[in-house]
Amino acid sequence: MSKEFDVVVIGGGPAGYVAAIRASQLGLNTACCESEAYADPKGEPRLGGTCLNVGCIPSKALLHSSELYDQAAHSFVMHGIKADKVSIDVPTMIQRKTNIVTQLVTGIKSLFKKYKVTFLPGHGSFVGQVDGKWQVKIADEVVTTKHVIVATGSSARHLPGIAVDQKLILDNAGALDINAVPKRLGVIGAGVIGLEMGSVWKRLGSDVTILEAAPDFLAAADSAVAKEAWKIFTTKQGLKINLGIQLKEVTPGKDSVTIKYENDEGEQTLEVDKLIVAVGRVPNTNGLNANAVGLALDERGRIKVDEHCATNLPNVWAVGDVVPGPMLAHKGMEEGVMVAEVISGQAGHINHNTIPWVIYTHPEIAWVGKTEQELKAANVPFKEGKIPFLANGRALGQGDTTGFVKVIAHAETDEILGAHIIGTNASELIAEAVVAMEFGASSEDIARTCHAHPTLSEAFHEAALAVDKRSLHF
Ligand code: FAD
Ligand code: NAI
Repeated sequence: MSKEFDVVVIGGGPAGYVAAIRASQLGLNTACCESEAYADPKGEPRLGGTCLNVGCIPSKALLHSSELYDQAAHSFVMHGIKADKVSIDVPTMIQRKTNIVTQLVTGIKSLFKKYKVTFLPGHGSFVGQVDGKWQVKIADEVVTTKHVIVATGSSARHLPGIAVDQKLILDNAGALDINAVPKRLGVIGAGVIGLEMGSVWKRLGSDVTILEAAPDFLAAADSAVAKEAWKIFTTKQGLKINLGIQLKEVTPGKDSVTIKYENDEGEQTLEVDKLIVAVGRVPNTNGLNANAVGLALDERGRIKVDEHCATNLPNVWAVGDVVPGPMLAHKGMEEGVMVAEVISGQAGHINHNTIPWVIYTHPEIAWVGKTEQELKAANVPFKEGKIPFLANGRALGQGDTTGFVKVIAHAETDEILGAHIIGTNASELIAEAVVAMEFGASSEDIARTCHAHPTLSEAFHEAALAVDKRSLHF
């Protein structure tokens, strides 16, 4: 007889493993399968998906190492710290990143043991439905389950005619394993990966050129933040970012890559030692046998779901990067929890308006809710308060006063509609805005909340005060 479960999760990334843990916590007999995409050196599938293996975690490890190097090389001096011969041992930096990944992916296996989730190594695909239950093939075994949660994630989008070999031409996976500082680094795409990876290697000494098809820089961010970021990245940090380009031809040589592209000034040629292609990601639905069972996909190949992540098939759910919405680990985890709770009869819920975005450059960029341009386009009346970190004592003490906090509130109700931060620790500071919005706070609520002094969070407090034109320190 085949193994039988209440829930089988296909895919062990953040959306999938969290869904499996929550389902098991709620008393559902749960299994989670994971293919060999991120196998360990012995060929064993590793849990954690893109996020832990080749995404959030390793990229942040490299961002931190390179930031420390940059500080030692350029900022220590203002504190009177002499570090005359700062150098970087790239293989050690990469090995540290790899060790962190190993520690975390092993940790997910331990969590599965702790919460009694059955781990089934192997690729999962739909077989069909028998007596109202789903049959799922995992590796060579067919298991039976009442519910299926598809959490197969996404993969790097590659461009036609540009063969990623992970040596000269890299996607996000290869970009995390460069073993020596490339003298000249090219990046296609000035999105999140392009900016984060471009920052890592720029700090370590590469001459970085980013080629972006869109005419506007960081169009999804608030325009004031995008403008400030552009100034800092290009003028202060020296990232060369070319907007509105059209790629023509990419030719790998023996040790370099030649890129031909067009911009306003005509045809251009760029030669680099490594090229990172970071032009977005595509949902993983191949090999699921989706067509055969009639699982509906949208025009971009994502699995169609309703507000509770239910697909068009009974008791089949889908979460994370494989469904519409921002491709962010925390969004996938929230969906995973919601689905597990809905399956167990609880009222699962996700508020898409309070999902924070963070770009881990330096300064960091973080936002939640609506941007100024979105509110203008929707004719929503609003007021705003904006406070530079220059007016914040803690930022001054830390020697890093770049950026600002901007709070946007409804002009009539004063409800906070969005918060936009560019500056040190923006990734942590945004949490306060998320909580405030989740509780339907007004800017007045934040203005009347005591913030510890001296902290960067006081800038958020001051920005809320500034909405009512009563900031106290600016
Ligand atoms: P994935 O993490 O892609 O996991 C899906 C898993 O399913 C994979 O392990 C895959 O092997 C497996 N799988 C696929 N098909 C099958 C099958 N048929 N059978 C069995 N297993 C299968 N997000 C953030 O929020 N913060 C960040 O800082 C951040 N940084 C990033 C940096 C980089 C370089 C990249 C590439 C992404 C980053 N992301 C970040 C995005 C984040 O990694 C994804 O949003 C997140 O991993 C999506 O989770 P998921 O579980 O939906 O999919
Ligand atoms: P992205 O969507 O952020 O950026 C891709 C960029 O490439 C866009 O600006 C796009 O206009 C450009 N582009 C597309 N085709 C092009 C072409 N032919 N020539 C030149 N430019 C082109 O995607 P990215 O950076 O690949 O990241 C993928 C996703 O991973 C992100 O959208 C995000 O969801 C997630 N991610 C999140 C991070 C975070 O939360 N800090 C970090 C890294 C990735």
